[in-house]
Amino acid sequence: MHKSAQETEFYDVVEARRSVRIFDQEAAFDHDIVEKAIQAAILSPNSSNLQLYQFVRIPESSPNKDKLAELCMRQKAATTARELVIVLTRRDLWKSRANANYEFILNSRQNQSEKKVKQIGSYYKKLIPKLFGKFPGWTLVKTAIAWWVGLRRPMVREVSETDVRISVHKSAALASMTFMLAMKASGYDTCPMEGFDSKRVKKLLDLPTASEICMIIGCGNGKPEGIYGPRFRVPFEELVVEK
Ligand SMILES: Cc1cc2nc3c(=O)[nH]c(=O)nc-3n(C[C@H](O)[C@H](O)[C@H](O)COP(=O)(O)O)c2cc1C
Repeated sequence: MHKSAQETEFYDVVEARRSVRIFDQEAAFDHDIVEKAIQAAILSPNSSNLQLYQFVRIPESSPNKDKLAELCMRQKAATTARELVIVLTRRDLWKSRANANYEFILNSRQNQSEKKVKQIGSYYKKLIPKLFGKFPGWTLVKTAIAWWVGLRRPMVREVSETDVRISVHKSAALASMTFMLAMKASGYDTCPMEGFDSKRVKKLLDLPTASEICMIIGCGNGKPEGIYGPRFRVPFEELVVEK
């Protein structure tokens, strides 16, 4: 089968990316590439286009860098990183992001029908507030409504507060993946980490109380010894099913 150059490049990057745990301290590291990779990451698909995340950058020059590496349990992927990027979920920004989407769609599609405008309005002004709003007992009510409606027709069941958090983390994780692939495409390595003390990290960097850390990504020029072993994946047949 013929492979386009673009296809070859994409698969080369995917295959070349590894989680690298030791970064070179001497090699030149261009911090602008981190920004470029974040620009790519924010193009990732995300739930309802609410973009409920932020990238918090802690370059090696930051007074917080060493303290943050300590809080990543002193993993080498953090202590030797030239820059650490925290992918932060911002569920709390749902209202402003929903409004931004609404305004954008209204302004960018002047000639749309009244019906379409109503549909968009209903999505961002009614449905999203119902899903993201927080009131005592609201999860129970939402779950009960989903169950009730679901008796008669197909219905989205993931409406609880936990489901909303998971949804926000899904989008943040997708953006994280794009970021890591973009870094690799520019010749740099990364290591995603969930081994950190989230409470202390939030305190150290004065992150919003309502935010959550999806992952912290160590970035740099990977050293060969920073790859701890050959790539292992369970057999393909265990990972793929057809029904
Ligand atoms: C959400 C997430 C959290 C991870 N946390 C850590 C971590 O704290 N420390 C670490 O060394 N690797 C961490 N990893 C890297 C995985 O161990 C690694 O991706 C996996 O072993 C597969 O290896 P590969 O990335 O080289 O293909 C994490 C990966 C993901 C996606």
